[in-house]
Amino acid sequence: MTAQKRIVVLISGSGTNLQAIIDACKNQYIEGDVVGVVSNKADVYGLTRAQNSDIATCVLSHKEFDSREAYDIELIANIDTFKPDLVILAGFMRILTPGFVQHFQGKLLNIHPSLLPKYQGLNTHQRAIDAGDKEHGVSVHFVTEELDGGPVILQAKVPVFESDSADDLASRVHQQEHRIYPLVAKWFCQSRLAMSADCAKLDGKALPENGYASED
Ligand code: GAR
Repeated sequence: MTAQKRIVVLISGSGTNLQAIIDACKNQYIEGDVVGVVSNKADVYGLTRAQNSDIATCVLSHKEFDSREAYDIELIANIDTFKPDLVILAGFMRILTPGFVQHFQGKLLNIHPSLLPKYQGLNTHQRAIDAGDKEHGVSVHFVTEELDGGPVILQAKVPVFESDSADDLASRVHQQEHRIYPLVAKWFCQSRLAMSADCAKLDGKALPENGYASED
């Protein structure tokens, strides 16, 4: 049996994706342990979720730093104390510096609530509604220096109904997030997933632009 992978999760909010990953580790769906949770905000429920599972937490407020670079250097140092094999961004609402991304290159995952490359950035649900999209979804991808631009590993689609508010759509997308993020983390911890030359590979095979199960 291979050793359990050490996972650090970065959050800025309620941490429902964090919870999905914690639960998947606890029931051994993921061959790994969440060994640390780092938040840039002190009063977020995600920290309580971590504490409820006896996971070490660290709050590093960006407000105490003069520059993005200074913050990210300290963030790297804090994450490194946990000796992570995998760093998971789960609603961590910060733009990362190239230095940060390079430091964790190949072991840094993000979840973004859109069918990338559509709707990089914020307000993805409202933008999908405003555009009259009939489908929307979520992407898990490796992080590269391009914001929301790294190679996609897995996407899940949901329908958009005419009566949908952005909140309706967000909750439909969230349900899918909680399915696909643990699955991708599982693949990573099984050493089946890797990034080379900005390309995501599963079992040594390059994944298509929209990730595994792409229809293209
Ligand atoms: C999730 O919907 C995630 O896709 C999004 O933040 C939310 C966090 O929810 N991430 C981004 O928008 C990143 N650009 P959670 O705290 O309940 O996991």
